[in-house]
Amino acid sequence: MARERVMIVDDEESIREWLSIALKKEGYEIKCAENGEQALELYKKDRFDAIITDIRMPKLDGLELLKEIKGLNPSANIIMTTAFGSMESAIEALRGGAADYITKPFKIEEVKLRLEKIMESERLKRENIYLKAVLKKKEGEKKIIGKSPAFMKVLAMVDKISKSDSTIMIYGDSGTGKEIIAKEIHNRSNRVDRAFVTINCGALPETLLESELFGHKKGSFTGAIKDKAGLFQVADKGTFFLDEVGETSPGTQVKLLRVLQEREIVPVGSTSPIKVDVRVIAATNEDLEQKMDDGVFRKDLFYRLNVIPLRIPPMKERRTDIPLLTDYFLKKYCTKMGVPLKKISSGASQVMMRYSWPGNVRELENAIERAIVLQEGDTIRIGDLPEKMIQETPKQVFGSLKEKEKEAIASALEETAWNAAKAARTLGIHPSTLYRKLKRYGMDKK
Ligand SMILES: Nc1ncnc2c1ncn2[C@@H]1O[C@H](COP(=O)(O)OP(=O)(O)OP(=O)(O)O)[C@@H](O)[C@H]1O
Ligand SMILES: [Mg+2]
Repeated sequence: MARERVMIVDDEESIREWLSIALKKEGYEIKCAENGEQALELYKKDRFDAIITDIRMPKLDGLELLKEIKGLNPSANIIMTTAFGSMESAIEALRGGAADYITKPFKIEEVKLRLEKIMESERLKRENIYLKAVLKKKEGEKKIIGKSPAFMKVLAMVDKISKSDSTIMIYGDSGTGKEIIAKEIHNRSNRVDRAFVTINCGALPETLLESELFGHKKGSFTGAIKDKAGLFQVADKGTFFLDEVGETSPGTQVKLLRVLQEREIVPVGSTSPIKVDVRVIAATNEDLEQKMDDGVFRKDLFYRLNVIPLRIPPMKERRTDIPLLTDYFLKKYCTKMGVPLKKISSGASQVMMRYSWPGNVRELENAIERAIVLQEGDTIRIGDLPEKMIQETPKQVFGSLKEKEKEAIASALEETAWNAAKAARTLGIHPSTLYRKLKRYGMDKK
């Protein structure tokens, strides 16, 4: 990571040197200027995360410098150092947009603390901007599709719970859309302008997970060279999505419970808690009741999370959504790959309608994407679908042909009042073939 850059502006050389040595030791990159004019020149040429400036200086003084820099960059962080007793200029500085002020003579600790505060808030700002950008980008390309009764129930529930701050527990098999629903809840909430932060509880080792979630103090473990804000702080006033919460280790479960109860976090290596305002949405594809019985998931945590349970039905409970999702993904991936929109043959859509979809919407999405890549013509046929799907469904697809055949035979017999010879002729088959079929299907005159 690039080091944070600080400019020190003071007409007294001893102060510049003393500050610069002390702050370099903290890991900052330092530039110095003797007066406002020089400082302004430097500022125009370079990027600085913070500026510490004296007020009384020859040429351009601190207050004028503040005005000039704020004119160039309204979000510049400027700390003023003022002589003891000159409260008015301190107030003027704050009015002019200074981030902070320190009264001289000051201790180096004071400067460090104020700088750290500024850098931390800058980091949070950056992370927020980044997360929002990620969110916006994804939002653009992701729509929620589904009109089946089972899915409409989910959407109605989403509508009802989005505006509240209650904790939500989303249940659903893998690929059913737990994450897309969690985001939808965030997007429809009053927190939409704040971060939506996702963490996969199963993907990180316990020590890392804790410091990711709660942050850490400098020196709390090897490699912790700076204080670091936890994701719960990044998510402040926003939404926190705890994905695969069933995978959380016992130690982290205790800490999560604490956040949910107290609404505060304690960074690793710290003793002072920090208040956070987050809405928590958790998700799992596991049987948490079973995990509780096995003693690997805490009951108290479960009840804290399970305030509003929301179950996303598997694909096989909402088959009428299959054609809608198929069309949606066809459009999405044909556009993405810059090829003309492909159709899907009726055989292929029958296979899709009958398949069991253990991987749910994600499996369907992948199947369509794959078929578009493989199929060079304009129609996706059975053969373009994954082997597994074809193997699972042929009996049923041809079963439906069988049904059609039976129907045709039955109506031919009805038309001819069960005259098999005539019926065979209308069907365009040999009478002996008809007899064989009648026997196979067990069809008798009633
Ligand atoms: N109703 C839907 N409409 C459109 N796309 C959907 C829908 N449901 C899921 N998807 C898409 O399917 C994929 C899987 O969804 P998502 O990641 O939300 O599922 P999940 O339940 O979190 O899965 P996992 O358990 O594997 O983490 C994503 O690409 C998502 O955009
Ligand atoms: Mg997921």
